[in-house]
Order: sequence, then C-alpha cells, then structure tokens
Amino acid sequence: MGDIRVMRDDLLPPLPADRRHLLSVADLSRVDIERLLGTARSFSRSLEREMKKLPTLRGRLVINVFYESSTRTSSSFELAAKRLSADTMSIKASGSAVDKGESLKDTALTLGAYDPDVIVIRHPQIGAPNFVARMTGAHVVNAGDGKHQHPTQALLDLYTLQDEFGRLDGLHVAIVGDVLHSRVARSLVQALDLVGARTTLVGPPTLLPRGVEAMGCETSTDIAAISAADVVYVLRMQKERMLEGANYVPSLREYTERWGVTPERLRAGQKVMHPGPMNRGVEIDGRVADASDALIEGQVRAGLVMRMAVLYDLLTHGPVPVPAEAAMEVA
Ligand code: NCD
Repeated sequence: MGDIRVMRDDLLPPLPADRRHLLSVADLSRVDIERLLGTARSFSRSLEREMKKLPTLRGRLVINVFYESSTRTSSSFELAAKRLSADTMSIKASGSAVDKGESLKDTALTLGAYDPDVIVIRHPQIGAPNFVARMTGAHVVNAGDGKHQHPTQALLDLYTLQDEFGRLDGLHVAIVGDVLHSRVARSLVQALDLVGARTTLVGPPTLLPRGVEAMGCETSTDIAAISAADVVYVLRMQKERMLEGANYVPSLREYTERWGVTPERLRAGQKVMHPGPMNRGVEIDGRVADASDALIEGQVRAGLVMRMAVLYDLLTHGPVPVPAEAAMEVA
C-alpha cells in the first residue's frame, strides 16, 4: 500500500452548520452591502470582456422558482447563474405541478432532493422563502415575497445610485406611488437607511403605510414634495396585491392627475428610477421614462451584476459574517 498523504484541504473543518440566506435587507449590515457593491462592480468589469463567462460557480446548481410573473428578476437571476458557469433550472408555477395543487412544502422537498446549492424563490405569500430555507439544505434568496421584501432589488438600486452619484451617503430619494403594497419600497427604505441616505414617501394617503415615520422616513401626500429629492423612484399600482373590492384611489385617471410623474413635475437633472414593470401614462409619463435622466435601463444592467454578486457571496463569503469563534477555528 502506498503512502497515505493528508492533503491540506482534508484538514479544513466542516462548513458551519448554519446556512446563509438572503431573505431580507434586515439580514445585511452596511459592511455586507459595501462588500456586495464591490463584488458587483468587479463582475461588471468582467462583463466588458468578449468572453463573459466566469468559471467561479462551475458544478453548482441554482434553481429559480417563480410563483409570480417576472421578467427582469427571473431573467437576471438565470443569466447571473449562467455567467458564473453554474447549472441552472427555472421553474414557473404555471405549467408545473403547482397547477395540480402541489403544496410549497412538496415542491420544496422535490427540488431539495436534487441538492441545489441555491434556491431563488418568488412567491405571493410573505415568509415563503423562509419556509423553503427550513425545508431544504440550499442557500435561499428571496426574489420577492408578497408585499414583504425584495432584497436583491434594493441592492441593485443602491448599485445604480452609486454608479450615478458616486456616493450613497446623504442622497435623498423620493419613492412615489403605491408604497403600501410594495416589497420594493420596504426593502429599499431599509437599505437606504443602512447606507445613510434619506427617503421621502409620496402618494395618496390610502397607499402610504402607517407607522413608516418610525423607520426614519418622511411622508407626503403632495406630489410637489418630490422636488426636494435627488432621485424620484416611481412605483406602479400593484393591483394583484390589493384587497379585493377596496378603493384606494377614485380612479386611475385621478391618480395620474395628482401623482403621475410627468416632465413638468421634475426639476432639470433630477434622476428617475422604476423597478418595472412600468405602466406608461399611469404612474410615469412616457417622456420621463425615455428621457436621459431615467436610470431604468441602468437598473436592469445592475440587476445582472448584483445577482451575480449575491450568488457568489452566498456560496463564498456570505452576507452573514461567520461568528468570531467559528472564524478562529478555521484560522
Ligand atoms: C417589482 C416586484 O415584483 O416586486 N418588480 C421587479 O421585481 N422588477 C415591482 C412590481 O411588481 O411593481
């Protein structure tokens, strides 16, 4: 029998039992956000090359499960995984066994049986990603759960802002529209607060959540309040999340008249963002969406590099720092 040689890798302790997830902006610290922004920036440089694929996540499996419609989020997660050479599988609720009444638990157990490294999930129910994190051994990324959280959207928005202004600290963002039903707004308000930016929420009183002042943001029902902001962040009316039969605004026409973002309501040079999908002529005037001050396409590009950064971060450094003791054991 030949010599048995212990390779260095064999001496590494097993990975910490607590798996890392990105379920909410609350999982992140400012340091995590800065690291993710930096990683996304390096990936954006790698995408300038002719050969855009990196071998970083070769052999890893990323499963995207979307129980709600999506264009930007699902396509960017899929492309992000592919650009990092991971294997990907994308499952949409319609056309899958969910149509046949399969529960989230059974879908999670089925997908978990393939031992995926990451499950990216969008679901209309609040807490569905947390449930999948408990049911499977995968790292879970919340791609939107009901009106609760959409952490990767907030991260890509920070990336877009930093790209445009060169800083985040001290920026003033006015979020306009249906804030009440918006997971994008909930995540973004928290993320802006973490990086030292200021937020004002603007919209009809019925569409502004109660108690947000406690989160440190101002509110206004007057569209004129947007003029003080560096950036106007526009949200659509999210009808699918509204209570059936409830009347939040008298009519869409009246909404547009009072809160629609038009060229006349913007200051020269004021930047405009929108997470998509846009309803031109309702919450945003087509001329605003197409103007050079709109950062909307930049947000889509940021979505790709930021989701590459999140996948990479979860499978390597992780947004939740390893506790000091565990770090010492590894060292
Ligand atoms: C948002 C979402 O799904 O929460 N869209 C997105 O992820 N790009 C916003 C919305 O649906 O209005």
